[in-house]
This record gives sequence, C-alpha cells and structure tokens, in this order.
Amino acid sequence: MPSSNALDPQSPLARALYDLGITSTVVFTLIFIIVTSAITFSIFRYRSRAGEPDPTQIMGNRKVEMAWTIIPFLIVIFLFVITLSAMNRADPPPAPSPDLVITGHQFWWQVDYPASHVTTANEIHIPTGKALSVRLESQDVLHEFWVPKLTRKMSNVPGQPNHIWLQADKPGDYIGQCSEFCGTQHAWMRILVVADEPAQFEQWQQAQLKPAQSPTSSAASKGQELFRTMSCINCHAINGVAGANLRVAPDLTHVGSRKQLASGMIDNTPANMRLWLKSPQHIKPGALMPDFTLTDEQLDDLATYLSTLK
Ligand code: CUA
Repeated sequence: MPSSNALDPQSPLARALYDLGITSTVVFTLIFIIVTSAITFSIFRYRSRAGEPDPTQIMGNRKVEMAWTIIPFLIVIFLFVITLSAMNRADPPPAPSPDLVITGHQFWWQVDYPASHVTTANEIHIPTGKALSVRLESQDVLHEFWVPKLTRKMSNVPGQPNHIWLQADKPGDYIGQCSEFCGTQHAWMRILVVADEPAQFEQWQQAQLKPAQSPTSSAASKGQELFRTMSCINCHAINGVAGANLRVAPDLTHVGSRKQLASGMIDNTPANMRLWLKSPQHIKPGALMPDFTLTDEQLDDLATYLSTLK
C-alpha cells in the first residue's frame, strides 16, 4: 500500500523541504535544551537561602549583552539563508508552458498533458527523473493539491492558476489528497501519482492517445449504446464515440486502465464499476454523479463496456 508520508521524500523538491524541516528542528531543539538547562541550573545554583544578604546589583554587562544579541542574530541569518535555498530548490519559477495542467473539480481531479493532448482523471502518470512544470486550476471552489512524498502543497484557486513542480526519483505509486475543505466529499478527493520509467511512460501516453476500444461483445455494444442514449454523454467524454466530448466529469476513454474509481474510493474492478453505476450516491454521497436507476441488465452491459476501455 503506497503511503503519503511527508517524512519520506522521494524527489529533490520534497527533499529540499524535508532537509529544511530537519535542520530547523535540530536548531530549535538545541536552543530549547541550552535555554532550559541554563534556567534550571540557575534556579538551583543561585536560589536565595535563609539569612543570605541581597545579591549585589549590577547594571549591564557589555560582553553578555553583545553575546545574546549577536548569537540569535546569526541564528536568524542562518535560518533565513537555508530557507531561501530550500525555496529555490522546492519551488523554482514555472516553465514557459506547463507539462501538466491539474484542475480540481468537486470531487475529482482532471489531468491534462498540453503537449500530447492526453486527458485523464485522478491517476497522474509521470516519467521518473524529470521535473514537470504543473499548472493548478480549479473549476468550482478552492481545492489543494498535495502529494507529500513528491512536492509541496499548493491551492487550486478558481480563476487564478498556481504553479508547482512535480518529480519522482523512483518508479512507484504515490498517494496524495485534496488538502483544502471543498465540500462533502473533500476527504475522498484522493490523488494517485504513478511514476513510470520514461520508456514505460511513453507507452502509457501513446496508449492514452488512442481512441477508445470498440465494443467486442454484444454486451459491450449494448453498453456503448446506453452510454450514448442515456445522459452519460452530457458530462463524460469518450474519444471515438460520436457526440461524447463533454468533460464536465472524468474522461472515460481509457477508464478501464485506471487503478481506482471515484477518486480513489474503490478499486477499479468490473464488479465495483457495476456497483458505482448502480448507486453512486451510496458509494460517494454528494458526488455529482446521479443515480440513474438502471435495470440489472443495463448495469451489466454498461459496466462491461466501461471495463473494456483499457
Ligand atoms: Cu477538493 Cu478538498
């Protein structure tokens, strides 16, 4: 099970933030130890005892005052410098054109690759070892993109694109999560970043560019017909199906190739696909996918069809 542990950085960007966090924590811990030790020592060593006269009163000590001004000043300068360096490493200026555009929707993520024109949802494939310039947008309310092992956290703001870089050192699955409360299913706006070796990523990209698989069974044909004639095409696009080009909801051209459904709520199996079509409002209450009260046969056909869209 992939984790989303921010203390296990897997990219130069995340490592910059991790290093800053660790170094600052060490500095603060040392200061805490020195100050509390000095206070504790003084409390016991210099406490007033019965019969003792008042201590001699002195005013100012140049050496001590210079020390407690200069040392904290140097510490602040040191923290300032390492913070600047971490900001430069974790958050360089955006590239002239983004490699990826990630748009928050209630309650899923639209993922566009402007150079190749691939569009997908929730599952973000990236090649390992390459920093990708990512533009973050929102279609409705504030969302926040955060994949802790790979990069910093950043808000998706309607009408005001933001920018981050995204990179992974090693192939693998990395979990992220919407981190800004955006409505009932905020907690189920998960992100899956799949980092592939560059050659494998290229294969994935080529596969995504192909139009959808044509139905190869009568159930799948009936499923495709249902997709076109029910209200599905009012929201979902399938490249290769006439009239299905609206992207209000996730693009389904290759929905069968994705690992999960409904932004990470359930694994993408034919049985779960059927369950999702049967009662989306039970699986993800508040999601914009309505319950179409399909018959059992319609559910079978539609689930069969969608599951073949690899
Ligand atoms: Cu989207 Cu929280």
